[in-house]
Amino acid sequence: MAAQLIDGNALSQLIRTQAGERVLQLQARGVKPGLAVVLVGDNPASQVYVRNKVKACEQVGIHSVMEKYDASLSQAELLARVEALNQDKHIHGILVQLPLPAHIDAQKVIEAIAPEKDVDGFHVASAGALMTGLPGYWPCTPHGCMKMLEHIGYNLRGKHAVVIGRSNIVGKPMAMMLLAQNATVTVCHSATTDLKHHTLQADVIVAAVGKRNILTADMVKPGAVVLDVGMNRDDDGKLCGDVDFEGVRQVASHITPVPGGVGPMTITMLLVNTLASAEQTLHA
Ligand code: GUN
Repeated sequence: MAAQLIDGNALSQLIRTQAGERVLQLQARGVKPGLAVVLVGDNPASQVYVRNKVKACEQVGIHSVMEKYDASLSQAELLARVEALNQDKHIHGILVQLPLPAHIDAQKVIEAIAPEKDVDGFHVASAGALMTGLPGYWPCTPHGCMKMLEHIGYNLRGKHAVVIGRSNIVGKPMAMMLLAQNATVTVCHSATTDLKHHTLQADVIVAAVGKRNILTADMVKPGAVVLDVGMNRDDDGKLCGDVDFEGVRQVASHITPVPGGVGPMTITMLLVNTLASAEQTLHA
């Protein structure tokens, strides 16, 4: 039997409706949640991502400020903007869109963001908090994946999860989140010698490599749950993930499509993190 689809658009809509209610509660207490999105340069993909983030904010009633700068902006100027946003009481979340131009040290910029406004969850303080189980913002994409597993009622305790990819943005935080839910976690990467050996043992597979068809049906245990974080183009220029969707859906119990799977959840979790930050100001 073909796998059930985990519909990221539908789940996002559900969570965004709840987010809209939280916005109203905050407003009733005199807080208008605000997100600043900073874009440097004219990377076309980044422009689309940023536009979608701003649009999603509008949809739920979060005030968004978009700051667009020429690619020639200096690192010092960008750091000064981040510092100004750190001090801005109307801004609860700061997102500096990556990649940044080559002359800017992205890590330095991320570390300049106040951890309490780090709604991307990329600051070392956020990464450390996730690793140790302390409160902090979780990176949006793996957080969205966890929400999808929660939505289908999946209990990770004692299950074997295989994460393919070890980026700081997805693979590594994903592994930490799965571990925190008592899964046994294997992280595979470009130097893994026999990927199929690992994936065949997995109850849950998260593919986050950025390479088409990294996971095919012969690599998946019947009944496994497959989450596809990839965003690639096929030979016809159509958006596709890391998973051979048509093949794997015949074997898996649940699978996320691309588009309409993990992608919309990433933006939704950004909204959720921004709201959590705004709510924190009530307790400060
Ligand atoms: N570039 C691609 N994805 C992301 C993201 O989630 N956050 C930021 N800041 N930049 C990105």
